[in-house]
Amino acid sequence: MDSVVVLGQIARDLVLTLDELPEPGSGAPVTSRRELLGGKGANQAVALAQLGAEVALVGAVGTDDVGEDLLRQATADGIDVSAVVRRGADSALIVDVLEPGNQWRYLEYVPRETLVAEEDVLAAEKLIADAGTVLVQLQQPAAACLAAARLARAAGVRVVLDGAPPTTGTHGAELVEEAHVIRADAREAEQLTGARLDDADSACAAAREVLRRGPELVVLEVSGKGNVFVTNENELFVPLEDTPVVDTTGAGDALIAALVVGLHRGAPLPEIAAAAVTAAGRTTGHPGGRPSLG
Ligand SMILES: Nc1ncnc2c1ncn2[C@@H]1O[C@H](COP(=O)(O)OP(=O)(O)O)[C@@H](O)[C@H]1O
Ligand SMILES: [Mg+2]
Repeated sequence: MDSVVVLGQIARDLVLTLDELPEPGSGAPVTSRRELLGGKGANQAVALAQLGAEVALVGAVGTDDVGEDLLRQATADGIDVSAVVRRGADSALIVDVLEPGNQWRYLEYVPRETLVAEEDVLAAEKLIADAGTVLVQLQQPAAACLAAARLARAAGVRVVLDGAPPTTGTHGAELVEEAHVIRADAREAEQLTGARLDDADSACAAAREVLRRGPELVVLEVSGKGNVFVTNENELFVPLEDTPVVDTTGAGDALIAALVVGLHRGAPLPEIAAAAVTAAGRTTGHPGGRPSLG
């Protein structure tokens, strides 16, 4: 299978589960604690590796011990980290505070040095040009995302975007033009389409409008209901899996990873969509965003 390059965040994830958040001035017991390789880029890369893809990360960690550990963990997960740069003192830290009923709150310490810079992308030019797909997380600086999308497009590499493009300036529109695939959760989809997507019909209509801007496949979440997968030939709505939901963190990352693997295999869209939603459902039953698809 052709390789996948993921551009995105690498962080230490600390996942704390508790029954109820304490009031200010008081404390509460933490019922479970998981400390993991995390950040959306790493989660997507882990999911891809678990699904059998050859995968490399473009990202940044600090020069601290945590950065060392994150690189070690990613390598142990089978991820090529040769294009991960180390700079700044501290690595990013995401604390996922989870109450029962998928009530998550993220506390995000993300130093600027741990964001992907345009120069990091240019340094990874060969890796990108040799890949089958470049998967770009739009939470990263727009200039870096656009540089990756342009390099990939020019080299005939599939460009997959996850998230919402910026709504100010011209980078957002250019990113959508460069993309073959764009996928957004419900909140991001609102930003991307300017519409509220309450049901499959409104999501399909909004996706058709995005298709006219350049992409060949648009995947949008309908909050609490499912996801639509729309191409010029096909429109599918796949409902959520009927599975216990503890924490939806990382479910979108698993979804996009499975979708990329399906595209690499040249599978038909209904099969790709079903596998993507199954992968998402398999990531909601445990605290934290690390997928478990192996
Ligand atoms: N029970 C479920 N079965 C299948 N997919 C689910 C389920 N619950 C949530 N999802 C999907 O998980 C995805 C979560 O996306 P997102 O908010 O981008 O997560 P993250 O960015 O944390 O990975 C959505 O597409 C949503 O439809
Ligand atoms: Mg997401």
